[in-house]
Parts: sequence; structure tokens; C-alpha cells
Amino acid sequence: MLLDVRDLRVEFRTRDGVAHAVNGVNLSVDAGETLAVLGESGSGKSVTAQAVMGILDSPPGRVTGGEILFKGRDLLGLKEEERRRIRGAEMAMIFQDALSSLNPVLTVGAQLAEMFTVHRGMSRKDARARAVELMDRVRIPAARERVDDYPHQFSGGMRQRIMIAMAMALEPSLIIADEPTTALDVTVQAQVMDLLAELQRELDMGLVLITHDLGVVADVADRIAVMYAGRIVESAPVHDLYKAPAHPYTRGLLASIPRLDQKGRELYAIKGLPPSLTDIPPGCPFNPRCPMVRDTPCRTEVPPLFEVAADRGSACFFWEECLHG
Ligand SMILES: Nc1ncnc2c1ncn2[C@@H]1O[C@H](COP(=O)(O)OP(=O)(O)OP(=O)(O)O)[C@@H](O)[C@H]1O
Ligand code: SF4
Ligand SMILES: [Mg+2]
Repeated sequence: MLLDVRDLRVEFRTRDGVAHAVNGVNLSVDAGETLAVLGESGSGKSVTAQAVMGILDSPPGRVTGGEILFKGRDLLGLKEEERRRIRGAEMAMIFQDALSSLNPVLTVGAQLAEMFTVHRGMSRKDARARAVELMDRVRIPAARERVDDYPHQFSGGMRQRIMIAMAMALEPSLIIADEPTTALDVTVQAQVMDLLAELQRELDMGLVLITHDLGVVADVADRIAVMYAGRIVESAPVHDLYKAPAHPYTRGLLASIPRLDQKGRELYAIKGLPPSLTDIPPGCPFNPRCPMVRDTPCRTEVPPLFEVAADRGSACFFWEECLHG
């Protein structure tokens, strides 16, 4: 297993109290596999990614438990220096907003070349040649002419390609992409997604794709992990989950995507809001919004992740009913 996150817990100590952002997350990704992590805003997707990358905003954030096994080693036990080496060379992250992640005062070519001079000890000339190669590879037109342009001179889609190029530069084994296409318009979104999927296959990388868009997931992901209030509530191969969700929250999410074959039908929306992470309700965290809730055990016990099948889990006491209902 490339990445194996076990029972990860992250807290933020804020003026309003302790926010329990991640509450026992388990997830794993193999080489060549794409795992989509899906969930509403505030469910803990980015915080999970930041903890894995070792870039948690700390303080106020703090990992309070669990293990992050990467190629068999627990990253949480490593010194910052070693984690920094792994970051970039072995695992890299792609963010939503390229403009704030790229350095505005350095040319794109200089930023790409720096990956090779710093991490690979290449000469400036060789590194620059590699930068142009990379820009070609992520299909930036006229790469040779544009290598000395600054980030703001590129369109949003092209900037996102540059960020993908930065992440891929050292051919890491794992990429975490946090809403990589959210800021783009729909056609550009699809192109950037296709590029990412293609490079992932070519390099046999593990890809964790964070998104709140169930639509983009179906084509590119192998597995989905659905997050709610800092927990994984369902985890399954994509097609199994689409065919028959085993958690009422997943069922609600699926029912709320517009479908071309059902035009005019009113869209379902999950009622209510996600809980405040400083005040997660007792029992199943989804219980105040769940259409299948029963007083016991839903309001008194936290459901563990039940094994639905060998490669499938659901954190619902009534997963069987949900699956067959
Ligand atoms: N820097 C921070 N300081 C304090 N609390 C934070 C910080 N970052 C995250 N949190 C807490 O962690 C929760 C989860 O945040 P996270 O960014 O992981 O959500 P998300 O699932 O990525 O949502 P989105 O879809 O909006 O990106 C937030 O609601 C907040 O309570
Ligand atoms: S455990 Fe109960 S409240 Fe939670 S999702 Fe299942 S039915 Fe709903
Ligand atoms: Mg986020």
C-alpha cells in the first residue's frame, strides 16, 4: 500500500473552542489508483490532506492521533527535515488556486527549473530545458516562448496546468489534488481533469482527488471515500457506490446531482446543515439530517465503519436497509 491513513485525528484550538476537524479517518491509496474524497464544505477534506502532506496550519491545528503510513513508514514520527524532503520529491499537492500558490514575482520557467536545481542538483541550463519539456508535457502551447512569462500572464486553466507540472516535476509516487478544477469553467475543468488522469496513469502514481463534485468523480476515480463531519462515512469502488449507496448521506448526495436523463425533475437537497465541529451531536453525526434516523442507536451511539463487502464500508447502523432500500 502506498498511503495508508489510520484513525487520523486533527483538532484546531480556537477562541470558540476545540474544532474536531478530523475524527478518526481511515483511507488508503495504492500506486496507480485514484481515490476521490468527497464531502460538503467543512467536512475535513483539506485538513486531512494537509495532515498527510505535513503542512497543517499549526498552531492552531494539531494531529492528536493516528498514523499516516507512506510506503510503510509513519510520517508522523519523522523529523520536519525528512518530511520536507518527501514533500515534493515523493508526494506533491495541487491546490485549487494556482495564482496564490505560484510565486507572482518569478517566471513560470524559473519556478519549474528550481525544482530541478534544488532537488536534483541540475545546472541552470539543463533545468530550464526540463522546464520547457514539462510545460510541453502539460500541453501549454508555445512552451518555449512562454517559459519566461509570469503566472498572471497565463489563463486560469493554463496556470492550473503549470501547477500540475510543478507537482509532477520530480515524478512523485503520490499526488494530492485539492479541488484542482473548482475555479475553472466547465470545459476547461474537463481538460485539466483529463490531463491529470492521463499523467497519473503514465507515471503509475497514487492520486487523492478531493472534490465536492460527484459529477467529475465518476470518470476518473477508482474508489470514493465520502466524508462527513471529519469522518469517512462510506468508502467503496466508484461503480458500486453509484449503483447502490450504503449510507443515507451518500444517497442524499447522489440524489442531489442534476441528471440529463431526468430534466425537469426537482432536485433533492439534503435538509439542514453540517454540524459545527466544535459541537458535533452525540451518536451518529449525521442523525439530525438523516431521513432514516431512529432514536436508538442513532442518537446515542457513534456507528463504526461496518464492512459492507471486502472492499466496502459504511458508517451507518442501517446500511443494509439503505443498500437494498
Ligand atoms: N486554519 C484553521 N484554523 C482553525 N480551524 C480550521 C483551520 N483550517 C480548518 N479548520 C477547521 O477545520 C474544518 C474543516 O476544514 P477543511 O478545510 O478541511 O474543510 P473542507 O472539507 O476542505 O471544505 P471545503 O470543501 O470548503 O474546502 C473547518 O470547518 C474548520 O472548523
Ligand atoms: S446511523 Fe442512523 S442517523 Fe446515522 S446515517 Fe445511519 S440511519 Fe442515519
Ligand atoms: Mg477544502
